[in-house]
Amino acid sequence: MTVLVSRKYRFPASHRLHSALLSEEENRATYGKCNNPHGHGHDYEVEITVRGAVDEVTGRAVDLAALDRLAEEQILKPLRYRNLNEEVPSFQGVVPTTENLAAELDRRLRAGWGGVFCAGGPVYEKLRIWETERNICEILSAPTATRVGEAPIQEDNG
Ligand code: NI
Repeated sequence: MTVLVSRKYRFPASHRLHSALLSEEENRATYGKCNNPHGHGHDYEVEITVRGAVDEVTGRAVDLAALDRLAEEQILKPLRYRNLNEEVPSFQGVVPTTENLAAELDRRLRAGWGGVFCAGGPVYEKLRIWETERNICEILSAPTATRVGEAPIQEDNG
């Protein structure tokens, strides 16, 4: 039996929505109060969803302690209490919108996945991030798709 298991995490961080490609006026029109020069904070929530087969002995599809370690190392520790614009190198020149933050978390998770879960183990399925209760972004993991800025991933013919 294969199931989807989700686990939620939280981390506070601050940001300012401002694009270097737009004028001051265009930035204010695009981002409104989120363009405030001094930034503002969010208590971000992240939900990681894993697809896995339920182990007959343990009754579990994923080692949650291992998932917690991965989330802590790849996402929570590097981003917790950070100013995303100024302290996180990936947001140099990239606007830290919920969409771009989701893409960054997705990249970090995929980069660390193989170091924690072995081949044949649980697969990273998707992540969702809540910036606020009403502002949510979801990314579906697509390991065989080519993403912007990444080399194509070879299909496993095994
Ligand atoms: Ni914001």
